[in-house]
Order: sequence, then structure tokens, then C-alpha cells
Amino acid sequence: MPTYKLLLLPGDGIGPEVMGQVQTVIGVLAETGIATFETETDLVGGAAIDAHGKPLADATLARADAADAILLGAVGGPKWNGVAYDIRPEAGLLRLRKDLGLFANLRPAICYPALAEASALKRELVEGLDIMIVRELTGGVYFGEPKEITTLPDGSKRAVDTQVYTTGEIERIAHVAFDLARKRSGRVASAEKNNVMKSGVLWKEVVTQVHAAHYADVALEHVLADNCAMQLVRRPKQFDVLVTDNLFGDVLSDVAAMLTGSLGMLPSASLGAVDARGTRKALYEPVHGSAPDIAGQDLANPLAMIGSLAMALRYSFGLGEAADLLDGAITDALAGGARTKDIAGDGAKVLGTAGMGEAVVSAL
Ligand code: NAI
Ligand code: MG
Repeated sequence: MPTYKLLLLPGDGIGPEVMGQVQTVIGVLAETGIATFETETDLVGGAAIDAHGKPLADATLARADAADAILLGAVGGPKWNGVAYDIRPEAGLLRLRKDLGLFANLRPAICYPALAEASALKRELVEGLDIMIVRELTGGVYFGEPKEITTLPDGSKRAVDTQVYTTGEIERIAHVAFDLARKRSGRVASAEKNNVMKSGVLWKEVVTQVHAAHYADVALEHVLADNCAMQLVRRPKQFDVLVTDNLFGDVLSDVAAMLTGSLGMLPSASLGAVDARGTRKALYEPVHGSAPDIAGQDLANPLAMIGSLAMALRYSFGLGEAADLLDGAITDALAGGARTKDIAGDGAKVLGTAGMGEAVVSAL
């Protein structure tokens, strides 16, 4: 059985608590012969600022670069609100994404049958929902230059952000989306605004070309991003893989998140390019932050973090069956009534972080 090198970066707030449950699950995967990992643990975010004066030490970045995959908890919290902008906790996470070239952000939105009542929508609209949003993560308006605020002659100000995409950037994210669709229902929707944005015109053109050249077996639909937001709320199950740029992806993935209930349920993956050896850099993390309001109280839901490990099994290690087992254990634990406070309805018995971890382990 191969051994994989996993770097664990628990971070701040509830990060170490939810990572603790992942470590328990990793132990069980090894004991049962499902998968063995060589793990290292290091600091990121506020914890790294306290130790080294910056949110990601160079040695940590080198370890991240050498690992087969990285699992990250969460960064930030009120303790570091006063630190300089360049060394704030989030800068550690942004540096990891940028320096490792993690351009493809995968955010599944799954509605577990046991939690359909927790959705912002009616049960029939969301039951069985399973969308994969593929967001471009290293380009677009968040990074485009110029990006500035200038003062005009009359003393008023002018702010500029620039949306930039190149053919290459669009091609590589399109490949990620089409490859994923092949392993799912075989459908991709691509969202942009070609009606008002040049970058949207190019996006649509390049996605269409990649589709025609390589993925005739996959069904492709183009949708305007604003209509897409509406459709996600009106009839979300029409979507399977949804590919879009950095800005629209940020918004649309948060809309999709609310279809599924709690922030504590949502995993994510950020993937780099496939290299000559057929491997790729990858970072897996829950969508939620460090939740200072509940940190240290055994209240955090560990399922987003455990689900992030399942994504690592699937997308970094080719262990699809092991990933199915772990995802199945999460589904079974929920079906068996296991609830943390964030997903507990009235009258449900509430488990803590460790209790939910145990429920998953016993289902596994
Ligand atoms: P948050 O995601 O930490 O919390 C939002 C709300 O959801 C809170 O009420 C929290 O208690 C709840 N929540 C989050 N995760 C949960 C879980 N696993 N189980 C149960 N409840 C959960 O976002 P917020 O409050 O905006 O930010 C708090 C800190 O986290 C800030 O310093 C922020 O910068 C940082 N942050 C870090 C992120 C990351 O590491 N990727 C992402 C988002 C925020
Ligand atoms: Mg967002």
C-alpha cells in the first residue's frame, strides 16, 4: 500500500479542533488498511505570526511544496486584527495558493437527505442536490492590474479594478471542469457575462473550443452569471458541474452553500496544474473560517474538515473508493441522527466536535 505525504496546517480558532478529528480519521484509515499517510504538522496564520512574525514561514512553504497534499483548518481571529496588512493571517493562505499555483477551486454543494430541512429552500428543491462549482482562483478582477484608487483634479476619487483573463487561464480551468464532469453526470454549465464583458466573450469562446476539441461526450451549456444566480435558487438541481471565473465563482459558490444548510458542512479543494509525473499540487480546506465565537468550546462541526480529507483521497491520491467510504460514513452518521449545534433542529440531541468525529469513525 503506498504511503502519501500529507502536510497538516491546523491554523487558528476552531482549525486545530476540527483538524484533531481528521487526525483521528487518518488513524482509522491506516488501522483498517484503507490508506496510510505520513503526516507532518506545521503553523499557518495567526499561530505562525505568534511564532515567526509572519503568517507562513519559508520552511513551511517548502514543506507544502514537498507534500503530496495539504490539509488546512482555518486562519485568523480578533487577536491578529491589528497586525500589518501584508502579514495578516489570510496572507499566509493567499501565499500558499499563489506560490503553489492553485488555480482551480472545487466547491461541492451537497444536500444530505437528513439535512434537507436545514436548507434555505424547500425540501423538494434541494433533496438530492449535488453540484460541483469550479471557480478560477488565481486570475480575474481580484488580481488584474491596474488596481488602484486615484484622486481626480476636483478632489473626488476614482477606483479601478481590472478583470483580466488569458486563453491559457481559461483553457486550464475548462479542462478541470470537463474532466470532473466525465466522472459525474457528464454535464457542464459555464457562467460568464459575454453580453457586457470582453472577458466574458473570450471565456465563452475558449470554453466552447476546449469542449469541441476534447470533450464531445460532455454536455455543455452557457449561462449568464446573473441568470445562473437566479437559477441556483429557483431550480438548483438542473446543475451538475458549474465552471466560472474568480469573481462570479466567489458569489455563486456562496449562494450554493446556503442551499445545503451550514457552513460547517462544506469542504473545498484548490488544485494546481498536472505536472510531468501526473501529480498536482493541492490544498484541501473547509469553506468556513476560524469561528472565534465558538472556538475552544467543543462546538465546531468537523464535517467540512473531514469532507476535505475525503476530497484529498479522491483528487490527490486516486483513492475514489476510500473517499466514497468516508463520504458514506458522513452521510450515515447524519442519517443516524448525529448533529452538532449548527445543524441541530429543535429537540435533536447535540454532539460536540469530538462526538461528531466519533460518530463518523463508528460509521466508517
Ligand atoms: P466563520 O466561517 O469563521 O464563521 C461564520 C459563522 O459560522 C460563525 O457564527 C461561526 O460560529 C459559524 N461556523 C463556522 N464554521 C463552523 C463550524 N465548523 N461549525 C459550526 N459553526 C461554524 O467566518 P467569520 O466569522 O466571518 O470569520 C472569522 C475569522 O475567520 C476571521 O478572522 C476571518 O478572517 C477568518 N476566515 C478565515 C477563512 C479561512 O481560513 N479560509 C475563511 C473565512 C474567514
Ligand atoms: Mg466568498
